[in-house]
Amino acid sequence: MKWGVLVPVLAAAALRLGFSAGVRDQSLREAAQSSGVLIGTAVRPAQLSEEAYASTLAREFNMLEPENVLKWEEVHPEPQSFDFSQADQIVDFAIRHGMKVRGHTLVWHHQNPQWLTEGKYTSGELAQILEKHIKTVVGHYRGKIFAWDVVNEAFDELQPGKLRSTIWRDQPGIGLAGNGSSYIERCFRWAHEADPQALLFYNEAGAEVVNPKSDAIYAMVRDFRQRGIPIDGVGFQMHIENLRADVASISANIKRFAALGVEVHITEMDVALPVDPNGNPRPEDLQLQAEIYREVANACLSHSGCTAIQTWGFTDKYSWIGSHSKKTRGAALLFDRDYRPKPACHALRDALATR
Ligand code: XIL
Repeated sequence: MKWGVLVPVLAAAALRLGFSAGVRDQSLREAAQSSGVLIGTAVRPAQLSEEAYASTLAREFNMLEPENVLKWEEVHPEPQSFDFSQADQIVDFAIRHGMKVRGHTLVWHHQNPQWLTEGKYTSGELAQILEKHIKTVVGHYRGKIFAWDVVNEAFDELQPGKLRSTIWRDQPGIGLAGNGSSYIERCFRWAHEADPQALLFYNEAGAEVVNPKSDAIYAMVRDFRQRGIPIDGVGFQMHIENLRADVASISANIKRFAALGVEVHITEMDVALPVDPNGNPRPEDLQLQAEIYREVANACLSHSGCTAIQTWGFTDKYSWIGSHSKKTRGAALLFDRDYRPKPACHALRDALATR
């Protein structure tokens, strides 16, 4: 082939490559910019002083959520005192780097302080305690936390579609036991009074697909919307186990919730892999993991009501999966223990860039 012919051919090829080379250099945050979807991660404030942790966080994400430090046991350690020092660090970091903050979580049955769980309070007292908690915490971050997981995991694991029995519902509850989801409704009203601008979410585990649990949540959210209860969104946690994700069902589920007029956030995504005693996964599993991140991202990106994708941490160095699986599973996140992007990170970035 003569050079005269070859040069334009090479130029065209370079142009085509230019696109992918451009994408290849992008951070997740850059790739997400024009997608209309926020890209977030859960954060531990103790790690912010680690240079690689902080720089990766600021470069790759435009939304953060405290992994633990806004839970009751951290933020409300004594009946009369709140401790915002750790969550404030995360919010300050977010402001410095132009990131949004999600709040997690105001009402849950885990990680509650002993003074609360063993306080033998009456329903009337518990209602007062909960109202004060919600209003103090949401009020402290008014204008700074744009979205809250008001209630987390209220539906039962074992009895499909039933509300879980908890300190807030019926043990002894805040006085609305037996009234279905009205205790949840009350929490949303309190949060809305404390910050009318904040987006209020119901967050749940194991309800990503169409199943009895998500059917029950769907019925509750539809009822709340019809009666003007201030709910703005639903969070699907997306902790994926066994490398299995029914993406068609996830997509159908996102679609039906978005059709109710609420936003959908993927709030806690991770894809746990089996790991050897040194914490290393099999290379082929890293590819399967990448495909799951890609497909779940595409399921979100294909519905305009799905407005955020968040992972539950970002480096395999710090993830709840290891400690909660006795180290048999791990490597669930986008960056390895040395902060190198994994195939999953590239797959997610490509999905975001091609929206
Ligand atoms: C987990 C944290 O990641 C752990 O560090 C902690 O020990 C337990 O809680 N669903 C949720 C999150 O809503 O708050 C949980 O976070 C993971 C499951």
